[in-house]
Amino acid sequence: MNRFIGLLDSGMGGLTVLSQIIASLPEENTVYFGDMGRTPYGSRSPEVIKRYSEQIVRYLIEHYDFKMIVVACHTVSATSLDHLSTISPVSTVGVIETTPEKALEITKTGRIGVIGTRSTIGSGVYQRRLHALDASVKVYSQDCPLFIHLVEEGWAKEPATRMIVGEYLANLKHAKIDTLILACTHYPILRATIQEYLGEEVAIIDPSAECVNHIQAELKKENCLNRNNYPERIYLVTDNPDSFRSSGERYLDRKIHQVSLVDIGDLERRG
Ligand code: DGL
Repeated sequence: MNRFIGLLDSGMGGLTVLSQIIASLPEENTVYFGDMGRTPYGSRSPEVIKRYSEQIVRYLIEHYDFKMIVVACHTVSATSLDHLSTISPVSTVGVIETTPEKALEITKTGRIGVIGTRSTIGSGVYQRRLHALDASVKVYSQDCPLFIHLVEEGWAKEPATRMIVGEYLANLKHAKIDTLILACTHYPILRATIQEYLGEEVAIIDPSAECVNHIQAELKKENCLNRNNYPERIYLVTDNPDSFRSSGERYLDRKIHQVSLVDIGDLERRG
C-alpha cells in the first residue's frame, strides 16, 4: 500500500509535477530523480534521451518499490515513453496524457500554440494528437531552448527573461493563438511572464495538472491510494545537490531535507 510514486526529469522541471502531486495526493510517498549532471535533455537526440531515461528507470526500480512511475518530462515522454513502459514492471505514465483533449475543450478560435524543447517540438507529438482529435485546428509550435536555463538559473521574472519570452513567442502572438500548451515541465515557472506577454485573453494549459488527475484516477481504480500516511519524500540527483535543494525549495515552497547524489558512472553501467 505504501509503495512509492517515482518521478523523473532531466533536472528540476519535474518539480512542477511533484508540487501538484503533493497538493492533490499529499499522503503518497515519492522519489524524485533529477538528472542534473546531464541536463538539459531537450536538444539531445531521441536515442540519447532514451538511453539516459532507461538508465534512470532501471536504477529506480532496482532501489525502490514503486506503484507507479511518472515521466515528469515532456522531452522523455515524447521520445521514450513507450520504451520505458516495456522495461518498467509498474504502470509508467507520461505528462502528455489528456492535454490535447483539454486544449480542444478550451480553445474557441481553434488556434492553439505549443511550446517545448527542440526534441518535444521536433517529435510533433502534440500536433499529431491534436489533429487526430480535430483536423480543423491550427497548431503553432515553437521550441524555446533558452527557457530551461532561465528556470534552472532561478530567473523567472528578470528583464532578460521578459525579453527572451518576447523573442520566442512573437510568432505565436502574431498568429493570434487563444490557447497555449506549456509542453515542458520547466515552463510553468515562467507562466506569469508568458501570460504577461501574451495577455490575459490567452488560456495557458499546464499539462502537469492533467497528468496528476490521470495519476489520481489510475491509483483509485487500482485501489492503491495511500491513506493516513506521513509521506516520505526522497530526492536523487546526478550533480549539484545544493543548488537543486535551494531552487527546489523555492519551486515547491517547502523544505527539502536531504538530496542524495547518484553516481552517473553507476547509471551508465546500466545500459
Ligand atoms: N523539463 C523537461 C521537459 O519537460 C526537459 C527540459 C530539458 O532538459 O531540456 O521537456
